[in-house]
Amino acid sequence: MKLRSSSWFDTPEYYGFSRKAWLRSEGLGRHIFDGKPFIGICNSWSELTNCNINLKQLAEAVKRGIWAAGGVPFEFPTMSLGEMFMKPTTMLYRNLMAMDVEESIRANPIDGVVLLCGCDKTVPAQLMGAISADLPAIVVTAGPMLSGLWRDQKIGAGSDGRKLFDQYRAGRITTEEWVEIEGCIARSAGTCTVMGTASTMAAITEAIGLALPGNAAIPAPDSRRLELAERSGFRIVEMAREDLRPSKIVTREAIENAVTLDMAIGGSTNAVVHLLAIAGRARVPFHLDEFETISEKTPCLVNVKPSGEYLMEDFFAAGGVPAVMRRLLPLLNRDCLTVTGRTIGANFADAECWNDAVIRPVENPLSRQGGTVILRGNLAPKGAVFKQTAASPHLMRHTGKAYVFETYKQMLAEIDRPDLPVDETTILVMKNSGPKGAPGFPEWGFIPLPRVLVERGIKDAVRISDARMSGTSFGTVVLHVAPESAVGGPLALVRTGDEITLDVPARSLNVHLPADEMERRQAEFQPPPPHYTRGFGKLFLDHVTQADQGCDFDFLAG
Ligand code: FES
Repeated sequence: MKLRSSSWFDTPEYYGFSRKAWLRSEGLGRHIFDGKPFIGICNSWSELTNCNINLKQLAEAVKRGIWAAGGVPFEFPTMSLGEMFMKPTTMLYRNLMAMDVEESIRANPIDGVVLLCGCDKTVPAQLMGAISADLPAIVVTAGPMLSGLWRDQKIGAGSDGRKLFDQYRAGRITTEEWVEIEGCIARSAGTCTVMGTASTMAAITEAIGLALPGNAAIPAPDSRRLELAERSGFRIVEMAREDLRPSKIVTREAIENAVTLDMAIGGSTNAVVHLLAIAGRARVPFHLDEFETISEKTPCLVNVKPSGEYLMEDFFAAGGVPAVMRRLLPLLNRDCLTVTGRTIGANFADAECWNDAVIRPVENPLSRQGGTVILRGNLAPKGAVFKQTAASPHLMRHTGKAYVFETYKQMLAEIDRPDLPVDETTILVMKNSGPKGAPGFPEWGFIPLPRVLVERGIKDAVRISDARMSGTSFGTVVLHVAPESAVGGPLALVRTGDEITLDVPARSLNVHLPADEMERRQAEFQPPPPHYTRGFGKLFLDHVTQADQGCDFDFLAG
């Protein structure tokens, strides 16, 4: 097979010569031009993305594998998205990074690519870009951090941090203890130690068939991750020779498998929006309601925080994604092709589970249905997303009066007010936090519990917004309400004192207002002024789609 890269070098005109000469300036011998596949290593390493800090070391292991298989590695950087630091939110830049990845792959003389990612948005951004570029591609993620360890207590980065913060706010943890926790909750390189968005997207990548089995859960500092990176390097060279591209792997059936796995692991709600975007890139028509259909028939098996009790290190020891996939095989499309060159059925048929408490058997699930469900009603005509496995059972059917924050800023200013007129029945509503309204669709949906409730020992309340929330968060939190309030969705019409009913078993979310009152308020609606009038921000506002369509840019799908 003629390699794609040869069209850069095997040309009679001057540039064939100069490209070879300039490449040899890196100290490479002429043997690299004797039919060896050129493999890109697309590295999202950055010192501003702490979760991805081990990707440099993984890149070296990938290179070993590429050389060993007879390929030639070329590492290149792309934009990186550090969840902890980027303002207003990494989600504003997911599509920009995806464009960087796509064009960097397409423009260069490479025959295949290894994608190195980890922190939340770096995984979908690389997947979206690589699917659009459609050269052979394999993913190696950073892996989860070691479990946090405070004194003799295991703590999960993200989920436990938020619970401990409420204790600190209520004065039950001292400032000295809080500083001590800061030093031991995130103990190593790697992604958050719970089933947050990074772990969810890594698991989904394995289920969709774009990473070697076992990739998602090996802890970042574990030597077995380096070995997996080396094997991935070896395998991508074979994939380049086999011309095994994402378009042969990311089919409708593969996306269904990814959603099934997402439901069984109690995955992050963010997976919904990323999978819709990934499906769009792969030209697979996939509808929000299909998450609901799959959720209804898929048990949640993985007992990892925030849905369960354990951490990612425990999940790895129990067998990781392969063990879950084996238990799910009757529900999966087993003939889907993967990066191994074999099918999902063949990859996972013999996977073992070593701990039934962490990865529950199908007969004894964490819940009979999947972690995420889709709600609809007059408050969310285009859907809203809800993580039922991380919610409070007593609030799953709840009617209460709304207390409305018009903006995130207002919420922050008021949430600790000692006279905030709320109680445990109040439904907290926050507007202008969606893709265009915030802007960038930030993780503001986990509205903190008002101090007046925390001090009374109340641990949860119904919260509704058009924002996302971190995959490490938990509680009775309705997210991704679509259409968002900033474009005139019904959420924009809700006022403090309106009565709202959340009915998760019925999958509904409704505000109790007569139709003519809704119409009257709709007529009065004024959209907020745009946040950007130039630059990337304007491109984002002009082209981002709503949450139910994956928030990709309208011109990037397909
Ligand atoms: Fe990077 Fe959690 S902050 S994975």
